[in-house]
Amino acid sequence: MQEIAWQLSLVLMTLVAFGFGFVAINSGVRVEDYTPLQKRGYRIRSKLFWTLVAVLGPAMIYTLLDLPYGASRAGNQAGPAQVVEATGHQWRWELSRDRVVKDQPVEFRVTSADINHGFGIYDADMHLVAQTQAMPGYTNTIRHTFTADGTYRILCMEYCGIAHHNMMSEIKVGSL
Ligand code: CUA
Repeated sequence: MQEIAWQLSLVLMTLVAFGFGFVAINSGVRVEDYTPLQKRGYRIRSKLFWTLVAVLGPAMIYTLLDLPYGASRAGNQAGPAQVVEATGHQWRWELSRDRVVKDQPVEFRVTSADINHGFGIYDADMHLVAQTQAMPGYTNTIRHTFTADGTYRILCMEYCGIAHHNMMSEIKVGSL
């Protein structure tokens, strides 16, 4: 996914660069009567506007269907959850348990004892599987169902000071 986003960004950046180049090269050209040009520009703009409405309108509705996330996402199913209380400190994670069972929802209740941290759960391949923010005075809840055994890492995802990179913990996922 990140790979696709990166390549798409490259393509778009190249297009924008060509656009700038085109304008720069043609900036010396003088046109006396701008009216036809202006009309053409307005026509293109209207077409572009309605194209965007036609494309982005349905896209917006489609993405909003998922809200609220907790209700519909896979892995967020209702049912008794294994609760993990997680508190961020400069610079460590305090977890109420470090072992959970797979194929059963886990509810992470995430907060912070000092400043904002980012609570990110990574699998063995260092792919992010779930994340939320750890905020002082507030508890963010995420539900995740681990479908594979293994040792997962919890990393801080928000710069929080000199030892931010050391803010790591582990949670083991296994069978009963
Ligand atoms: Cu806590 Cu970065």
